[in-house]
Amino acid sequence: MTQTLQTSTLAAQRQTARPGNALPEIITVTSGKGGVGKTNLAVNLGILLQQRKQRVLLMDADLHLGKLDIILGASPQYTLAHLVDGSRSMDEIIMHHPSGIDVLPATSGELNLLEADKQIMRVLADSFASIQHRYDYLIVDTAAGISSTVLTMALGADKVILVITPEPASISDVYAMAKVIRNKAPDLPLILLPNRVKSLDDGLELHKKLNLITQKFLQTNLYYGGSVVEDGAVRQSVVRQRPFVIEFPKCQAAQNLQLVCHRLLKLHPQEIDRRSNIFDRLRVNRKIVEAL
Ligand SMILES: Nc1ncnc2c1ncn2[C@@H]1O[C@H](COP(=O)(O)OP(=O)(O)OP(=O)(O)O)[C@@H](O)[C@H]1O
Ligand SMILES: [Mg+2]
Repeated sequence: MTQTLQTSTLAAQRQTARPGNALPEIITVTSGKGGVGKTNLAVNLGILLQQRKQRVLLMDADLHLGKLDIILGASPQYTLAHLVDGSRSMDEIIMHHPSGIDVLPATSGELNLLEADKQIMRVLADSFASIQHRYDYLIVDTAAGISSTVLTMALGADKVILVITPEPASISDVYAMAKVIRNKAPDLPLILLPNRVKSLDDGLELHKKLNLITQKFLQTNLYYGGSVVEDGAVRQSVVRQRPFVIEFPKCQAAQNLQLVCHRLLKLHPQEIDRRSNIFDRLRVNRKIVEAL
């Protein structure tokens, strides 16, 4: 009974259009370096936002869908490629995860968004327009590296989360990413999220250190998003294929991420332009990226 009630409430929530013309806030999670925790943080942050009554769509913009399978314990059946070939609708592609968040498997071997022609981008933008009002947040999980796809997703966001770990390679990759983004988007808020740190003080220190460098060389301030400590519960949850905020809600990492979520909800660094939808933004941004 409870289950049925919950399911129908959720379904009703999903069908409800947002008041006015507000579109979801787009947050892209990226890092430059691979394996620093982007997917884990994107998924778990999405779930925490959902637990705070925000409607969340997680867009998987990483070609390696396998990772999301592992973390969510569920694999998407279809991707945007099925929408483009006309075999599935947007509603059929979106996967409803039991945690309450929805997942949009955006990239696949058969469809490269950056090579998609005008007509395909129009189909994507129109289909997305029919569902976007159902969400408060669109969280985009990117692949590692500074490829043109990653950059396009970052430039299309309202806020970018830069995940960093204390390793030197991660620090230099995040700096490189901040530099490229700043070059093209002077006002896009960049939020540093130190992950796998020994203590919250270490995370703060990492932010302070990098922020001094970006202020000096890029004339850019990095917002501090909060830190997540190294926690065995995260590794264990990956093995169990259950998001750590659900499997171990009291673990250190989950508590830390609650604070990150709180900060994120409070952070309004700029008036956000919510008039255009993600695929329109991708179309514009890929031209900018191509010109790099
Ligand atoms: N806070 C943490 N504490 C302990 N382990 C962590 C933490 N964050 C991430 N990990 C470990 O790092 C691994 C990689 O995480 P994840 O797949 O989220 O990284 P990613 O940045 O998305 O990687 P990729 O660049 O390959 O997409 C996880 O499987 C987990 O074992
Ligand atoms: Mg990943």
